[in-house]
Parts: sequence; C-alpha cells; structure tokens
Amino acid sequence: MQYIISCPGWCSQLLKNELKVLWFPLSQVLSPSTVQLEADESAIAKINVRSRIANKVFIILAEGIAPTFDRLFDIIQRVDRKKYIKEKQPFIVNARTHNSQLTSIPSLQSTGKKAISQKLMGNDERREEDNTVVPVEIVLSLEQNNLQILLNTTGDSLHKRGYRTHAGEAPLKENLAAALVLAAGRKFGDRFHDITCWSGTILIEAAMIAKNIAPWLKRDFAFETFDRYSHDHLNLVKKKAMEAIITSRHHTIIGSDIDEKMIEIAKKNAENAWVGEYIEFSVQDLTTLPETEWCFVSNPPYGERLQPENLKTIYDTFEKLFHGTRNYGWIITSYEWQPKWHWDTKSFYNGPDKVIFRKKKL
Ligand SMILES: C[S@@+](CC[C@H](N)C(=O)[O-])C[C@H]1O[C@@H](n2cnc3c(N)ncnc32)[C@H](O)[C@@H]1O
Repeated sequence: MQYIISCPGWCSQLLKNELKVLWFPLSQVLSPSTVQLEADESAIAKINVRSRIANKVFIILAEGIAPTFDRLFDIIQRVDRKKYIKEKQPFIVNARTHNSQLTSIPSLQSTGKKAISQKLMGNDERREEDNTVVPVEIVLSLEQNNLQILLNTTGDSLHKRGYRTHAGEAPLKENLAAALVLAAGRKFGDRFHDITCWSGTILIEAAMIAKNIAPWLKRDFAFETFDRYSHDHLNLVKKKAMEAIITSRHHTIIGSDIDEKMIEIAKKNAENAWVGEYIEFSVQDLTTLPETEWCFVSNPPYGERLQPENLKTIYDTFEKLFHGTRNYGWIITSYEWQPKWHWDTKSFYNGPDKVIFRKKKL
C-alpha cells in the first residue's frame, strides 16, 4: 500500500525519521510538509496512534495523469470499489491543484463526487447517504497533472491532541511543539525548561516524549468507520503503546511564565495529558531567571498576538542565556533579531510567518 502523510512545514525529514523508529523505513520526503510511505495495512493504526509529528495519514487509492475530467473519471474507476466506504456512508470530496490543467476546485469536487458515487453504485443512480454515519474524506490531489486520489484515515488533524481545555490566544500547534522538542536533540539527563510556557504545549509534548506516551491513546479515527476494518489491530496497537510507557526514569521538566493564570491553565492541560506529575510549574519573570544549565525550547512573545512593553529586555535575556553558555535549544519567534551566538534557523508557519533560532548542544 502507498500512503501520503502530511505534517507541519519543515517537519517532513523529522517525520521520515519518526516513521523509521516506528518500523516503517520505506518513506521518501516529497515536500517540506509531505512524506510518501510504502507499507502494509498495519501502518494505518500504528502511525495514527503513535506519530507525534503527522497531521493526517492518507491511503493512495489510485493515481495517474489527469489533464482532463474524462481522464480523472477513468482513474477514479480504478479505485478498489467498496473496500473502504460502507454502504450509504457519506463521503466528502476535497481537492487541491497545483500547476495543472484542471484548476477549478468546485468542478473537481463535484466531478469527483459524481464519479465516486457512480463507482460505488456501479451505475449513475443517485446514491443514498445515511447522515448518521461519520463521513469519510477523499482528497483529489493534482500536482502537474499527476492525480492522486487520497483517502483520509485520520479524520480531524492529529495536531488537535485534545488535552488543551484552554489555549489562550497565542498557542503553538501541538505537533509542531513535539517536532521542536525532538529537533532540539535533548539528552536524557539534561534539564528541560520552557520559560514562556503559556498553555504548556511544549512542556506537555516534552514530557510525553520523555515518558514515551503515545499522543493518541484516547481518540477515534476515521479508519475505524472503514468497511471491513478490524478493531483487533487498533486495540493491539493501543495495548502495546500503553505497555511502552516509561515509568522508571525521572526527567527534570520545568515550565515557567510571568502569567499566573496561564500557569494554572498549563497545569490543568498537563493533567489532561497524563503528565501533570512529571512537570514542575512556577510563576517566573524570565528577565530575572537565575543562571543554570538547560535545554530551552521557548516561544516568547514577539509583539503580534501578545505585546508586552519589555520585548527588548526579553530578547536581551535570551542573549545572556545562550551567548557563551552551555545552554542550548530553540527560540521560536518572528521578532526582528540578530542573536550574537552561533545559531541556525528554519522558517515555517504557525499563523503569521515565523523564524526559529536554534543553538546546538555543545
Ligand atoms: C506566545 S506565548 C507562548 C505560547 C506557548 N508556546 C503555547 O503554545 O501555549 C508567550 C508567553 O510569554 C509569556 N511572557 C511574556 N513576558 C514574559 C516574561 N517576562 N517572563 C516570562 N514569561 C513571559 C507570556 O505570558 C506568554 O505566556
């Protein structure tokens, strides 16, 4: 089987590494936010339950060159009928097109819907849909006339972890936070600190990674509604994920923020994610932080959604924390800034465009 797995921009190489760790070595990076994978059916449950970085996992149902709607229709005829979509199960057709002759999204969606209905019915009678059943999503993806017909096995994006009962106006997407923690290269014994932790996203992802808690032990997936899908495999994947949780080793994971109210919210979110006992929270102004050795991953305010008066003092403090010290990690910001220490950057999007500054571990 062939899969397309989407992820936040710049994370595809990290996702490829993660798939290898999950025993799926046959993947290739297609773009900064997509990876293609060759694997058997076991990948559906395992990646949806265990991946920290993926957004959605799609099965490639069929593909081919489609410069015209007739060709699109022909390719849809190749889809293995009825393997996934139940009798009367509603389905949504979404489409994206890039550098292709078929450019109209609404026309692609309506033609796709008609062609798939005909395919499922075996004739062009109107297909009855039972709207009490969860609809599945099919995506027609056109890249330079190369059509891929993709079936969404995930449902709602995996970045919505569900543990944030309250996120405030400036949160980071959960899977992006996980990617930053993984990319920071933190070593087991190193103390981890987010000094502008707000709703606690980065810390919670860091604690789940440290304890090997799979992100998706408590959630439903679109693939569970597929015809002939055996839940035995999903239950086995969840059972193994529970058994894989590390309870033995202690990690020093600390979250602080100047906003007392947000610290209470971060504690609640951490409880929801089963990692409340693994994170120490405190109210702390970062500009008065004592000198220590840490792995920092922080997303300080940058004057857009949050506008503290002392922005310059905040970035001067990061300068002191990183310049000529053994501290390392990431600062995620779009603040106009040229740090004095040796750093590399990556740019990606999480709302307004951003740059991230990384200082590697010495
Ligand atoms: C962009 S938000 C962090 C969002 C967080 N990564 C999340 O996903 O929830 C920036 C945070 O910096 C905090 N902050 C601003 N000034 C601070 C200071 N001097 N010391 C500590 N935290 C500060 C704000 O209270 C806010 O929580």
